[in-house]
Amino acid sequence: MPILIKNGTLITASETYQADLLIQGEKIHLIGDSLPAPAGCTVIDATGKFLTPGGIDPHCHFDLPMFGTVSSDDHYTGHKAAAFGGTTTVMDFAPQHTGPDGFKSGMEEWLKKAQKAAIDYSFHMNLTRFDDTVAAEIPALVEMGVTTLKVFTAYNGRLRLDDGGIFRALRVAKEHGMLVMAHCENGDVIETLIPEALAAGHTTPEWHARTRPAWGAVESTLRLAAMAQETKAPVYIVHMNVGGEADMLKYARERGVPVMGETCPPYLFFSIEHLMRPDGAKWICSPPMRSPADNLRLWQGLAEGSIQTIGTDHCPFFFDGTQPIRYEGREIAIPGKELGRDDFTKIPNGLPGVQDRLPILWTYGVRAGKLSANQFVALTSTNAAKIFGLYPRKGALLPGADADLVIWDPEKKVTYGVANSHQRTDYNLYEGWELVGYPEKVFLRGTMIVDGEKWFGKAGDGQFLKRKAGEIL
Ligand code: URP
Ligand code: ZN
Ligand code: ZN
Repeated sequence: MPILIKNGTLITASETYQADLLIQGEKIHLIGDSLPAPAGCTVIDATGKFLTPGGIDPHCHFDLPMFGTVSSDDHYTGHKAAAFGGTTTVMDFAPQHTGPDGFKSGMEEWLKKAQKAAIDYSFHMNLTRFDDTVAAEIPALVEMGVTTLKVFTAYNGRLRLDDGGIFRALRVAKEHGMLVMAHCENGDVIETLIPEALAAGHTTPEWHARTRPAWGAVESTLRLAAMAQETKAPVYIVHMNVGGEADMLKYARERGVPVMGETCPPYLFFSIEHLMRPDGAKWICSPPMRSPADNLRLWQGLAEGSIQTIGTDHCPFFFDGTQPIRYEGREIAIPGKELGRDDFTKIPNGLPGVQDRLPILWTYGVRAGKLSANQFVALTSTNAAKIFGLYPRKGALLPGADADLVIWDPEKKVTYGVANSHQRTDYNLYEGWELVGYPEKVFLRGTMIVDGEKWFGKAGDGQFLKRKAGEIL
């Protein structure tokens, strides 16, 4: 049945204008003035409301095993939380398994987990070992619709590739039109500082940040940019957390290097001060929180266009996984941050955020005057669609695009926190923050999956998105 959304204010990455929007089936069919309602059409009056493309979160981890436990949102609960926050597409990271065909079996494992998907999704592939055999498996990965590889300059002995491996991988990625995403820290420095800190009796959460120095992220970002320049392969720096990374990105981009970047909301709002609180473990993720000056520089990086996307790196754990919470009427407890009560190296790394991203950025980015509404759409949806090969099917208010839409009530006031979050964890980083403006109705391919507090989404309704090569922005 067609749906006509009347008199809304449409916000895209480049324009804001009033129009009617007609949905037919899964697609946006027409956008225009005073569109007539076809027979049998549902009409939604969006006077005074904003209409944006559904958010695209390019960086999430669902059901991710870590430190003997698992991140607490799976591909259903995390998707549901995303939808309540106005996000309709998420990208997760599949693991490269050991042995031959490690991409294929990693994909199989993740596709199986994602059978319960409630919104659309795709995968990046972690590239954690690289040799000629792995290089030969790359074309099959592209065939599967995975056009992005994530490399790590930290997590020695687990996920890290050495610089030679990254350099060779970049050449192969370039050959196959792939984008390499990079986790930038200095693994060797980290592995030196951690045992020293523990030997000195430093076990509290702030030492997580103190043993992962900011300059490691800065030099590693420049290192990746240098390799991008040498190989002409595009690189995307994930979870940028240090002001100096924004400086490096700007420096490289001004010189024509094909390098792009992403930051995440916590790096815009929180600092090492939060890790020093008694409940500091709530803010433990890698890379860590930095300083208020870094927060500011990252905001500036977004505003000036050096940084192209805001993802979440959603990877939640319970703060106290010994105490159950109720989720969809059932009690659930998953071991979490308490595992590292006496040792910061045992605190599972990661934060909730997939639902928080858009509402928090609307109030504290757009309404606060740090970003325009169009930049908000570009940074949280359209740019990710372009960079990751989903545009214009996703991230666009255009006829022919998927009808993934958010109707916002710009005046709705919400005191945010666990009580109104669907993220499956026992805490929220933005507890008690006052919001003005909130997603009211959310559509996934033409079907309304969220209406106020009501959930109409279903496990299994999310589609796997095979991606093509993306654009360099
Ligand atoms: O602490 C985090 N972010 N955990 C997820 C893994 C990563 O490096 O993105
Ligand atoms: Zn990472
Ligand atoms: Zn991540």
